[in-house]
Amino acid sequence: MTTTTTETVLDARGVTMRFGGLTAVKNVDLTVNSGEIVGLIGPNGAGKTTFFNCLTGLYIPTEGEVRYKGTVLPPKSFKVTAAGIARTFQNIRLFNNMTVLENVLVGRHTRTKEGLWSALLRLPSFGKEEAASREKAMELLEFIGLDHKAEHLARNLPYGEQRKLEIARALASDPGLILLDEPTAGMNPQETRATEELIFAIRDKGIAVLVIEHDMRFIFNLCDRVACLVQGEKLIEGSAGEVQSDERVVAAYLGEPFEGAPEDEDAAAVTAAEAATVAPEADAAEATTEADTAEATPAEATAEASEETTDAPDAEAATGAEEATPAEDTAEDTAEAPSTTSTTRTDGEAK
Ligand SMILES: Nc1ncnc2c1ncn2[C@@H]1O[C@H](COP(=O)(O)OP(=O)(O)O)[C@@H](O)[C@H]1O
Ligand SMILES: [Mg+2]
Repeated sequence: MTTTTTETVLDARGVTMRFGGLTAVKNVDLTVNSGEIVGLIGPNGAGKTTFFNCLTGLYIPTEGEVRYKGTVLPPKSFKVTAAGIARTFQNIRLFNNMTVLENVLVGRHTRTKEGLWSALLRLPSFGKEEAASREKAMELLEFIGLDHKAEHLARNLPYGEQRKLEIARALASDPGLILLDEPTAGMNPQETRATEELIFAIRDKGIAVLVIEHDMRFIFNLCDRVACLVQGEKLIEGSAGEVQSDERVVAAYLGEPFEGAPEDEDAAAVTAAEAATVAPEADAAEATTEADTAEATPAEATAEASEETTDAPDAEAATGAEEATPAEDTAEDTAEAPSTTSTTRTDGEAK
């Protein structure tokens, strides 16, 4: 820990975000102090990502105020990044055709005098500072354990490593606070465990952390404090123990259908049976295969994951250098990756 005295890093007060008639975030207060890892949980559609978008200048909250280290944040994401808040996205946003190292350099450009394009095109003006940036980027890759893949194209990384690379890119802007939106989505238990260690290490560098996750074990292991959003409102905030044992939190989660729920299996069986009836020439073996596929849905998950990763984000979205239009964001979130409660492994196959 590099900080000795506690300071309020993030102070969000009365944040409300309305989309037409829908209030996605309702009067939410949240603080994050230096040295803290704070968790934000809640069922799908609770408003967690929208809240992050309000904190990072992607959305201008309908009401409320967000302060970073005492100063009200400007409503532009590149200015928020420059102020000291970095983030990762629920749906990964990397430059797929750039190398791992280049992706980190893009994240670094808010801290260098040279612009983004000068950094990427290696204009002649780029000399000493480039070397320093590269060194810093390599250090970050070492920190997240991807230095051996510095020259690989981002799109060739397995899914779990792409998530790590996003974290490295966010760290490259030298943030005082990092916001992680479902950092372990699509990861296997080992990768999730490693991500937990990584987040502790980030905190130990003196960077405060606010993390959205569905994986309860992950959240309760990791976080000093946890807030739960339900239908846009903060239902409860407290220690892991307090939130874990709150029956309203349990109810909020149990009320939400989850992937692999019995109904899903039933539906898959019905679909398979229908397919067999409609196409009587299809042999029994084929029907069985279909049923298996429908239940486990690995093909679907993989397709979605690769769709996500081949979607080249625009330069600005990736670096937080410009406002993304809400419409854009919604479109991407709709094409969202598999539910985070799923343990389906999508890396490797997503190549
Ligand atoms: N740009 C937008 N326009 C309209 N509705 C939106 C937009 N972004 C999010 N929403 C809606 O706000 C609600 C909260 O969504 P979101 O913040 O993505 O939830 P979570 O991240 O907790 O799953 C959802 O009903 C979603 O459809
Ligand atoms: Mg979300």
